[in-house]
Amino acid sequence: MGEIRVALAGIGSCASSLVQAAEFVRLGSGAMNGIMYEHIGAYRVSDMRFVAAFDVDRRKVGLDLAKAIVAPPVAAEIHVDVEPSGVSVEVGPLLDGVDGNLVDVIEPDPSSLETTVDDVAARLAVVEADVLVCLLPTGATQAVQAYARAAVQAGVAFINATPERVVHDPEIAAAFVSAGVPLLGDDLRSHLGATTLHTALIELLKSRGLTVANTYQLNVGGNTDFLNLADPKRAAGKMRTKRSALHTAGIDASSVSAGPNGFVEYLGDDKTCFIRIEATSVLDSNLVLDVRMQVEDSPNAAGVLVNAVRVAKVAAEQGHVGSVDEVCAFLFKNPRVGAQESVGLRKFREYVDAAARN
Ligand SMILES: NC(=O)c1ccc[n+]([C@@H]2O[C@H](COP(=O)([O-])OP(=O)(O)OC[C@H]3O[C@@H](n4cnc5c(N)ncnc54)[C@H](O)[C@@H]3O)[C@@H](O)[C@H]2O)c1
Repeated sequence: MGEIRVALAGIGSCASSLVQAAEFVRLGSGAMNGIMYEHIGAYRVSDMRFVAAFDVDRRKVGLDLAKAIVAPPVAAEIHVDVEPSGVSVEVGPLLDGVDGNLVDVIEPDPSSLETTVDDVAARLAVVEADVLVCLLPTGATQAVQAYARAAVQAGVAFINATPERVVHDPEIAAAFVSAGVPLLGDDLRSHLGATTLHTALIELLKSRGLTVANTYQLNVGGNTDFLNLADPKRAAGKMRTKRSALHTAGIDASSVSAGPNGFVEYLGDDKTCFIRIEATSVLDSNLVLDVRMQVEDSPNAAGVLVNAVRVAKVAAEQGHVGSVDEVCAFLFKNPRVGAQESVGLRKFREYVDAAARN
């Protein structure tokens, strides 16, 4: 069987859950709750092999990946003990990675100030990475785009899990096309998260002819993503991508409150979302829907990442260059070409079914 050589940028809570998910499947029978496909193309979740890891936190740089994914301030719960990987966390370019509230919890390694895009690209080439997964903090536009440029330089497929513009940056998106490598983004949807639930409910109401009059989506949590997003400057991208997803679902979302709404430290990786939809139905009768959903935030991201990584590898094998629009509407909040929940799912399934036939 083949393997997928995965490099990670940002060894925080999502990276922790992704690495744990791969180990969970490797140690078990191959099955795991929440996995939509045992195989995508020729690849199982356990075929992901982590070959490089970049961070800037001096407490993580130099550690084996297995240790770094449980080092503070990672908030993801430990569901499985990961064996030492033999891969040490390397320093990446700091740029705007640590700002706002993160200054209190992340201490950048001094060498991160000198590390360049060329250094990252060279390392990706040495380890023969297939896919680079970008899991940097929201708001780190320069740093996210630096890793995207390194992926272009090294000819490595890129997954932008953050809301920062990569698929939506015309120059960078064009560079992926010229380099002949796939690009997936922007801003990962969670597997069954607030955006997915919210857009699916809107689609349901609209399919019955109801009109959505008002709606909101409030989210609270206690991991470093929420700490970072408590700074309005850093949260701007997340608000934009959440509204974009609601807009694609078919409502005017320009003034909808949908975003991170509070850092509550003791919640750790538990995230709670509150969704309200007020709609009008037959004879202008009222319908009010209130939903509260609690999830572990980071495994919820890993559920999508195990699909995105395998699709990126399959797309590269099939010579797909630039944004993989067929799957991004399902996997991301702000893809280049958005689609309603049901349409995004259908296109994703068609892509995976076609990969199984090739
Ligand atoms: N369910 C989810 O958790 C979810 C869903 C969708 C999108 N996302 C997005 O995924 C991203 C990662 O989320 P997370 O919870 O893992 O965040 P996190 O804060 O736990 O991890 C971010 C990591 O990036 C590191 N970092 C900062 N600057 C860096 C740089 N220049 N180079 C390398 N590493 C750097 C930090 O030290 C930290 O380890 C965020 O942008 C988040 O919004 C998360």
